Amino acid sequence: MHGQPIRHFLRMDDFSTDELVHVFARTQVIKDRFKRYQPYRPLTDRTLAMVFEKASTRTRVSFEAGMYQMGGSVIHITTGDSQLGRAEPIEDTARVISRMVDIVMIRTYEQAKLERFARYSRVPVINGLTNEYHPCQILADIFTFIEHRGPVVGRTVAWIGDANNVAYTWLQAAQLLGFRVNISTPPGYGLDPRLAPAGPHLAVFDSPLEAARGADLITTDVWTSMGFEAENEQRRRAFAGWQVDERVMAAASPEALFMHCLPAHRGEEVTNEVIEGVQSVVWDEAENRLHAQKALMEYLLLGREVD
Ligand code: CP
Ligand code: NVA
Repeated sequence: MHGQPIRHFLRMDDFSTDELVHVFARTQVIKDRFKRYQPYRPLTDRTLAMVFEKASTRTRVSFEAGMYQMGGSVIHITTGDSQLGRAEPIEDTARVISRMVDIVMIRTYEQAKLERFARYSRVPVINGLTNEYHPCQILADIFTFIEHRGPVVGRTVAWIGDANNVAYTWLQAAQLLGFRVNISTPPGYGLDPRLAPAGPHLAVFDSPLEAARGADLITTDVWTSMGFEAENEQRRRAFAGWQVDERVMAAASPEALFMHCLPAHRGEEVTNEVIEGVQSVVWDEAENRLHAQKALMEYLLLGREVD
């Protein structure tokens, strides 16, 4: 291989603060053009391969629609309908797929597996969710916050619930973008220190109400992430006091937004009233996956030389 090393987006901190700011700015440009029905097809003749080892609605539709809208095409494979399900090594899969397409998105289990794929790939690789991180989600979430409330610098995000892939990605973003995350998890489900180094960007609370106090954004996620289904019943009991309800929202700033990456389980991690309430921006958040990932693919494939 020649020239510059290939850029991947496997974790939020694969990008510098300046690169993230660029992606947010391009997200706005791309979204505005889309809303004006103005064609923007800088990725004509480019192909995205999407590899799903776990289920998806938003990630699949947003990447697929986004690539077509930018003039490219998409191939979608899953574990079940590819040789991945018959134990073809991930390294071999990476070497083959990346000779045929221009960019790859993968949703899988361990981050280490994604990293192995990226090591053997000739083209940029995007993390479409692993057990550890979900960086595309947080790109969209932060863009959504900026749209509604302006810059995130100096803000407080309260994470109530499971210390999961989405939570760890918020923490990486906080370090890069200068905001703080208050986190409250049930006993026994706390942060893994290997994924959540201590620092001024992180404050841990026993009580969800204390974590929510004065926050600019309240966010949560399912109590049981994909791959952990065997723990479902045990988790439902352990997480019962970690529901985002009107009391939690009332503890936050009166201007606070509510976000959830979706899919949501109403009556578990969030009440119907909160997710359907006036502070909830979950549908904007889901839509912004489309615009943010178009900006991400544009950056990985074309750099900053764009109009
Ligand atoms: N939020 C999110 O990634 O949704 P999907 O699992 O539907 O892709
Ligand atoms: N934490 C959830 C997010 C789903 C988009 C999961 O990993 O299942």
